[in-house]
Amino acid sequence: MAKSITILIGTITGTAELVAEDVAPVLEAAGYQVEILDMDGLTPDILCDNDLVLICTSTYGQGDVPDNAMALYEALDVHQPDLSGLHYGIIGLGDSTYADTYNQGGVRFDNLLRELGAQRVGDVMRHNASSDELPEEAGVAWARQWVELLAK
Ligand SMILES: Cc1cc2nc3c(=O)[nH]c(=O)nc-3n(C[C@H](O)[C@H](O)[C@H](O)COP(=O)(O)O)c2cc1C
Repeated sequence: MAKSITILIGTITGTAELVAEDVAPVLEAAGYQVEILDMDGLTPDILCDNDLVLICTSTYGQGDVPDNAMALYEALDVHQPDLSGLHYGIIGLGDSTYADTYNQGGVRFDNLLRELGAQRVGDVMRHNASSDELPEEAGVAWARQWVELLAK
């Protein structure tokens, strides 16, 4: 499997970026080269040109992806590229006070990438902003398990 991982950030208030910055060293320690990119301005090529990505995104609106991820999400949905060569992981951020749409940003990406043929490695991580757990700590713990799954 690939030795480089691109982390794609969907965020409004920056939490997903903080999580990615703490997750990156875990991936690097496992031997991966890591690039962190804000989804703003990206096209579906980013998923066609890489074979391993980590989506790190929060949730807004009616269970939507954040504004900076919207154009990429919609372009993927419209153009339907073949992503059968792609493996991915999902770190989702949300808040359970939004009971009906809890963590749907990450779930939306998961559903779309699977529909386009990509293969998820590991469970979708769901962080709850109303819990006592820090999102960075949850991300690091999840990433330690994720790299073990990638190594299989
Ligand atoms: C206006 C607003 C709307 C939100 N809508 C949802 C939602 O529908 N579902 C959910 O699970 N979380 C929702 N959240 C919670 C955020 O996704 C959560 O706080 C997340 O950690 C923010 O990450 P970010 O700083 O990377 O954007 C909302 C937060 C705000 C401020």
